[in-house]
Amino acid sequence: MKTFFIKTYGCQMNERDSDSAAALLTANGFQPAPDEDSADIFILNTCSVRDQAERKAIGKLGIMRRALDARPGMVFGIMGCMAQSRGDELLKKIPHLDFVIGTDQIHALPDAVRDVLEGKRKLDLRDRCGADTPGIDMHRADRISYHAFISIMRGCDRYCSYCIVPYVRGHERSRDFSGIVSEARMLAANGVREIMLLGQNVSAYGLDRHVPNPPDDVSPFADLLSAIAEIDGIRRIRFTSPHPSFFNRKLIETIAREEKICKSIHLPLQSGSDRILKLMNRPYTAEKFLNIIDSLRALVPGIAFSTDVIVGFPTETEEDFEMTRALMNRVRFDNAFIFKYSPRKGTVSAKMPDDVPQEEKERRNQVLLADLESWQCEKNASLVGTEQILMAEGPSKRNSKRWSGRTDTFKLAVFEPRAEIRPGDLIRVRIVRSTPMTLYAEVLPG
Ligand code: 5AD
Ligand code: SF4
Repeated sequence: MKTFFIKTYGCQMNERDSDSAAALLTANGFQPAPDEDSADIFILNTCSVRDQAERKAIGKLGIMRRALDARPGMVFGIMGCMAQSRGDELLKKIPHLDFVIGTDQIHALPDAVRDVLEGKRKLDLRDRCGADTPGIDMHRADRISYHAFISIMRGCDRYCSYCIVPYVRGHERSRDFSGIVSEARMLAANGVREIMLLGQNVSAYGLDRHVPNPPDDVSPFADLLSAIAEIDGIRRIRFTSPHPSFFNRKLIETIAREEKICKSIHLPLQSGSDRILKLMNRPYTAEKFLNIIDSLRALVPGIAFSTDVIVGFPTETEEDFEMTRALMNRVRFDNAFIFKYSPRKGTVSAKMPDDVPQEEKERRNQVLLADLESWQCEKNASLVGTEQILMAEGPSKRNSKRWSGRTDTFKLAVFEPRAEIRPGDLIRVRIVRSTPMTLYAEVLPG
């Protein structure tokens, strides 16, 4: 039996796609390889969202060339955003590449692999599919744990001026509501306790091609969250990423009302300067962003927030940057992913001058990271002595003698394992010590 290995770069959407691809290959008679060196079929799932991600994949392509010299029979394919945007160029330039599969063609993977095994080469499979791209609801039965991802929509229609996603993942297409709920039910029946809903713009779920700022009482995404919250067995629901322009009153109230929705919200800010937000084609203001945060905090005291921020966007002045910094300082985010702007070919901002020097981008990045660390330090310290409910994850990555778990606000805590505790269990703990990134907890009885 031929074995396969899928190496994934980039976001959780890509991880989910890799998992569906693996499930499809397994259902078609292929077998997962224990490691990449022993695989008969090697697939690279690529990301194009930032320059760094693309460079990593390109580096790996070079390494693969040497691996393939040593193992000439290996089937080699590329999927994901880079396959979609640069497939023809890659097929021409890379002699050892057998096929490229577009972002909506995952279901074509088993046939493509069979074709290559039968002697065909250089297959280009990149046509787009409808909303319910076949196969994206597949899960590998042997990999189902207490936690699972569900892809609820494909593509993005927001066209933020810096972002390549709409070009490589296509138009926004929401999956059928009942299909998603059935997938969640199937996962729950197989022991899944926590579900993460994925999409490039989840707060616009079900509003495809509608303009931002939907009426305050319309949120198909909130309806979906409520429907999943009704499933027995599901204890926690997370989602990423929402867009502030679709984050309305109904969604806010649903998050506050539904206990199973985790009180940790990832809300990408990108910039705190209204001028830069406009240039980014993000149709909200710093004030509107703060209103969402304040409304959620008013209803859910202690709710945690994380965000994405880009520093060094074209024409970003020191003043613009300080506005971002001030807004972040006002929110005191629990976590933040800070990115240095990199122009992506074909996007609107790629035509603007990339005029913030690299060293200045680096400096702004470091300033925000230092701010973040101070808030994290303070927040974690303030939790010492409190009782929390953790969802147990299993052995900690750093020290396998301890176990890790997450609070409802997604804070990582480590504790001494006990025989009766299983991954996915909700356990009561007391926080006894803290560092900026980790809490140390004692398991409480009951
Ligand atoms: N440069 C830097 N960061 C980017 N992101 C998206 N495109 C770019 C780019 N061209 C960041 C945004 C987005 C996250 C997934 O990646 O912050 O929210
Ligand atoms: Fe990119 Fe903006 Fe869509 Fe997010 S919302 S994927 S940043 S275009």
